[in-house]
Amino acid sequence: MSFRIVSTGSFVPPKVVTNEELTTFLDTSDEWITERTGVKERRVATTETAATMGVEAGRRALEAAGMTPDQLDMILCATISGEYVSPGVACLIQAGLGAACPAFDISAACSGYIYALDTAAGFFARNRVKNMLVIGAEQISRLLDWTDRNTAVIFGDGAGACLLEAGDNYITSKLFSRGGADVIQIPTSIGNSPFFEKEQVKPLIHMKGQETFRFAVGAMAQDIQDVLEQAGIDPADVDHVVPHQANIRIIDAARKRLNIKPECYASNIDRYGNTSAASVPLVLDELNRAGKLNRGDIVVLAAFGGGLSSGACVIRW
Ligand code: COA
Repeated sequence: MSFRIVSTGSFVPPKVVTNEELTTFLDTSDEWITERTGVKERRVATTETAATMGVEAGRRALEAAGMTPDQLDMILCATISGEYVSPGVACLIQAGLGAACPAFDISAACSGYIYALDTAAGFFARNRVKNMLVIGAEQISRLLDWTDRNTAVIFGDGAGACLLEAGDNYITSKLFSRGGADVIQIPTSIGNSPFFEKEQVKPLIHMKGQETFRFAVGAMAQDIQDVLEQAGIDPADVDHVVPHQANIRIIDAARKRLNIKPECYASNIDRYGNTSAASVPLVLDELNRAGKLNRGDIVVLAAFGGGLSSGACVIRW
């Protein structure tokens, strides 16, 4: 027993920041950002937080299924950008929705949503839950160094959610980690211990772009190939690939390495940039609400990011 996705929801802040607007305070251009990343604009929180966006995405998923928060048995939230180290974002979402179930966060950076779905599958396998909300919610803008053109131009804020119920539609998955803080790191505050001797590194995103790029292409192509092999599914039979939206060139490079029909790859990076753990469920909700997902379709989700981490899974819609 695993799960099936009953409904989806998402939320993005109304504030649109175009590439043009970034050129007013960064040494960059719309042409460079579009060509090198595929991002044209992103949404940026003004008053929203990962938790408030997660509440709205979750509420929309519940509404689409005609369910109420009291029917939930668990809430998971994939995130790295909550307001607090504690409480976790999932607990704030639980309070915001008025649910009474256990809630906790999954921290696996941009791969987080894949890790959260796989964690959810375990609770279903052990018959511990009937209905579960799995949310990806990120306010990455609070972690960005807005003076660093390498990172400020690629990220955005948002949240996406799936409501799961017991079923057999989660076919297989793969999770991968290559641990270390050398390629991507986001330090937390070192506090004010009079004993600790290391210096504070700015608590913002530090990323080696090209190394991340190389890891991302290799990991995504390999993970997708591996889960399809595990599932015994021919790449030609895949209906949709929902890749993490980090850079359109990463998606294109992975696409070239796989024998999946090119038109199967979904993308909204031009409008939202990289929303970290929210990126996969945001795309999924768009596809779903556009009526593009039919029951029985083979859907592959894949993501990669800080950790370094990556993962993929196969779902029968
Ligand atoms: N605008 C204009 N020029 C920029 C720029 C920007 N926003 N960012 C970097 N540049 C410049 C660099 O300074 C460099 O100039 P130089 O040749 O004079 O030194 C040049 O563009 C090329 O830089 P490089 O870092 O090689 O660019 P790139 O093609 O690798 O693109 C990233 C940079 C960050 C977009 C790309 O590496 C990337 O997407 N990496 C993966 C990031 C990712 O997926 N992160 C999230 C993980 S989940």
